[in-house]
Amino acid sequence: MTANELRAKYTDFFKLRAHAEISGKSLIPENDPTVLFTTAGMHPLVPYLMGEPHPAGKRLVGCQKCIRTGDIDSVGDASHLTFFEMLGNWSLGDYFKKESIRYSYEFLTKSEWLGIPLERLSVTVFAGDGKAPRDGESAAAWESLGLPKECIHFLPREDNWWGPAGATGPCGPDTEIFYDVGAPACGSDCRPGCRCGKYLEIWNNVFMQYRKGADGSYAPLARPCVDTGMGVERTVAILQGKKSVYDTEVFRPVIGRIEQITGKRYGANAEDDRSIRVICDHVRAAVFIIGDPKGVLPSNVGAGYVLRRLIRRAVRHARKLGLADILFEELTQGVVGLYGHYYPEISEKKDFIVAELMREENKFLETLKKGEAEFEKLLPNLRKNPARMIPGRVAFRLYDTFGFPVELTEEFAGENGLTVNRAEFDEAYKKHQETSRAGSEQAFRGGLADHSEITTRYHTATHLLHKALRLVLGEHVAQKGSNITAERMRFDFSHPTAMTKEEIERVEALVTEQIRRDLPVTMTVVDLEEAKKSGATALFGEKYEARVKVYAVGDFSKEVCGGPHVAHTGLIGSFKIQKEQSSSAGVRRIRAVIG
Ligand code: SER
Repeated sequence: MTANELRAKYTDFFKLRAHAEISGKSLIPENDPTVLFTTAGMHPLVPYLMGEPHPAGKRLVGCQKCIRTGDIDSVGDASHLTFFEMLGNWSLGDYFKKESIRYSYEFLTKSEWLGIPLERLSVTVFAGDGKAPRDGESAAAWESLGLPKECIHFLPREDNWWGPAGATGPCGPDTEIFYDVGAPACGSDCRPGCRCGKYLEIWNNVFMQYRKGADGSYAPLARPCVDTGMGVERTVAILQGKKSVYDTEVFRPVIGRIEQITGKRYGANAEDDRSIRVICDHVRAAVFIIGDPKGVLPSNVGAGYVLRRLIRRAVRHARKLGLADILFEELTQGVVGLYGHYYPEISEKKDFIVAELMREENKFLETLKKGEAEFEKLLPNLRKNPARMIPGRVAFRLYDTFGFPVELTEEFAGENGLTVNRAEFDEAYKKHQETSRAGSEQAFRGGLADHSEITTRYHTATHLLHKALRLVLGEHVAQKGSNITAERMRFDFSHPTAMTKEEIERVEALVTEQIRRDLPVTMTVVDLEEAKKSGATALFGEKYEARVKVYAVGDFSKEVCGGPHVAHTGLIGSFKIQKEQSSSAGVRRIRAVIG
């Protein structure tokens, strides 16, 4: 079964069980300052898991493109990926543990679906602690389906608890489903969750029962939900009997092409294999990031920096393999060929993606030349250092003066039997960040991603601001991004020039007036076409369901939006624009606070 077939099968299975198919969302989260990328299928669904009604109903199924960069350094081994697809089914206050577990069991084991022998499966469930009880219900559900007791493992919070995605929000125990690859146990305590590779986690069913508050307490959710996630690449590898995600059709053609050009055989040399995998993974991720409807370009901050790092790492590994040209055009074509029908955004932007990848490559090659020469110059002295450690200030100078990423300094250092004093580098970097505008914006990351009262008030304020900008500057203004923390909001919008002082004052006055009018905020669910016809603003490039929620703020604004919002604008309090500045070409950024 191929990845495309698995995606279709999964969706069919749940559609037959009354789930509505929802389209995946952008890789760049809206209104969530705690993460740079969408990291799980549940991420865009947080408002609904917290109680907002979803326009498509209470049972949903879908596939979400995700990026996780936490283990970027592990990419290159047999299983790690930065970009991956996650299949999921969700119950928003509909079915719960028993049905969810039965669905997973049926989909995995029935011959008309995946047909995995039950003997290959084992699961983990939450063991309970002082804050939440042992999840006997999930264990009983598995047992009633014929899973032997010894295949059901009770594990602590660090293994079997999920969420919240931010500091506060929905969370609960989960049951994780593992596939036994058939390798011998690594020891007497080898069990699902062990890292030896015998047990691969393929599916995670989270039972959102609690809401974690800012004080760390867990309150029961009025409407418990189910959120499941199945990794596509991993599951496909298992179904095809492959040892690694890189051995499936998702990566094999690319690997074949690299073999052909370099004359190297995949599987013959561990170092080369690592480089080949890094190229496959990083280029695929970069294609999706640049091709995203809310496309990000390489830069020195936030998601743009992650993208830059992915591209540069791929280029470096290509050079290690002796590839003079990283074949961006061919590799992008490969990704588009595999995914373009499901993610049309990457086919549409193909040429743009290739051009951006090449532009970044050229920039990097320049940087590399200078940085490498500088590093070579420093090497004899560095070697004399008895600790064999490169001081942080040296690594920082390479970064600051030559644009040489610290990760590369670390890699070069490693190749020369040295290490980098990372703590010292981080300190120097932090100091530098605090003094740069981009850096100080960055420091705001790490706020809250919940739907607390303050973020909800900010969220409604963004609707007022969006409309006020359109009234003052013109209809060309479109929202390009919004980012909310408890302390401020940041709103990006298309507009070619800096706003004048008068324009800023007029926008501020318009928003303030709507707050004073204490307008009611109302929500209706309508067909997307109807919403657009009624003049509701929708985010350009965002994918919407057939039925959408429209939030109207009195007679002032109307937007397609998932919510949540305050009931009436008086609750926002006051509104003040603190800064208006350029964000990128043709995009301005407003920073504002409410009181
Ligand atoms: N949110 C859970 C996960 O990412 C299940 O979807 O594993």
